[in-house]
Amino acid sequence: MARFLFLVAVLVAIVGISKSNPEVPKVFCYYDSRSYLRETQAKMLPQDLDPALSFCTHLVYGYAGVDASNHKMVPLNPNLDLDQGHGNYRIVTQLKRKFPAMKVLLSVGGGADKENPEKYNELLETPEARTAFISSATVILRNYAFDGIDLAWQFPVIKAKKIRGTFGSLWHGIKKTFSSKVVDEKSEEHKEQFTKLVLELKNALRHDNLMLTATVLPNVNSSLYFDTHGLMTNLDYVILDGFDYNTPERNPKEADYTAPLYDLLERNPELNINFLVSYWLKNGFPAGKIILGMPTYGRAWKMDSDSAISGVPPLHIDGPAAEGPYSKQEGLLSYPEICTKLSNPNNNKGIHTHLRKVTDPSKRYGTYAFRTPDDNGDGGLWVAYEDADTAGNKGGYVRAKGLGGIAIIDLSLDDFRGLCSGDKFPILRAAKYRL
Ligand SMILES: *[C@@H]1O[C@H](CO)[C@@H](O)[C@H](O)[C@H]1NC(C)=O
Repeated sequence: MARFLFLVAVLVAIVGISKSNPEVPKVFCYYDSRSYLRETQAKMLPQDLDPALSFCTHLVYGYAGVDASNHKMVPLNPNLDLDQGHGNYRIVTQLKRKFPAMKVLLSVGGGADKENPEKYNELLETPEARTAFISSATVILRNYAFDGIDLAWQFPVIKAKKIRGTFGSLWHGIKKTFSSKVVDEKSEEHKEQFTKLVLELKNALRHDNLMLTATVLPNVNSSLYFDTHGLMTNLDYVILDGFDYNTPERNPKEADYTAPLYDLLERNPELNINFLVSYWLKNGFPAGKIILGMPTYGRAWKMDSDSAISGVPPLHIDGPAAEGPYSKQEGLLSYPEICTKLSNPNNNKGIHTHLRKVTDPSKRYGTYAFRTPDDNGDGGLWVAYEDADTAGNKGGYVRAKGLGGIAIIDLSLDDFRGLCSGDKFPILRAAKYRL
């Protein structure tokens, strides 16, 4: 009897463990080190990451670059990154002392490497160039004790198109004309060569048991550059950047949702998260290796007197909004720069300066906020952005689809000081909570 009870207890324990221990969702937290160079409230130091890190399974330091002359991987800002300077590479990998379960990766590219954009394709084209990249990368990873590398490869992006009118019912009829505008004549070759780079790099990293991930940057067409079958055994994860589908830089005269979960009427049906995720799933990439990337910022345009006063997108607009007081980048506002502008029902004073927020009960498209211009035509603003609610919806989507997890891009534009609601990193928290 005692033996029988013991067996039952063991069985119960086994069942209990297997039930309570499904694959833990991953949370990739990107830290763009350029935030170190911002001023006052927006300056983010590695120690400011601390309140976020108990939520992060992976910390991704951005960004390293490529030297076009010799195809080596290089720090983009040696004075910030290396031991001879501020030593940020070392500081971030040493965060593992306090968070031993967290992996720290170095990301290369990420849109931060602005010179000679064609060098990313060129590097793929010869075995010698790939080898130069791989050996230089492994030296940096080893010297600074990174746990792996993320290839946020700067492939050519699709061309921006007119948002309204061109699509909808006409879409299928004109599809042919569009695909004739090729982004890259040699995309088939570059796709094969990228798969080779991933294989060769994985082999080099295997000795040290280091991780290898790839980030699909915004507006890079997955079907042109990513061979899902060739990549799936050698990539630990792929991070899909499902945002910046429309930006003031790409679409200066029309504003629209920038990171919708699902397709919208009369828009290109390929420009949304569900299309992107479905592409990878349909082509056999394991769901558990797919990480959905979400932004922590808004894309902001300037409304003028010709903009629809309803604010309903897509709408005519007058170019990028002026830079935010802290993030200092035209057409972009960090989450705290937006939340502090929203109208507060208890505060009627600043009615003409505050933004009116328009939420999305359907949970499919996202949130925007706007302010029409004053009588002199000044002060108009329209911004589509991620907030705690929409980030939570995306966490819910990841869970429902059985994906591997989320990526927050990036921590420096989330509310890391807790200015919006008092909680630090509200977007990270909300998305993680719904996983
Ligand atoms: C991506 O490339 C495929 C061809 O491989 C093309 O059919 C599709 O229209 C492209 N998508 C976009 C949004 O340009």
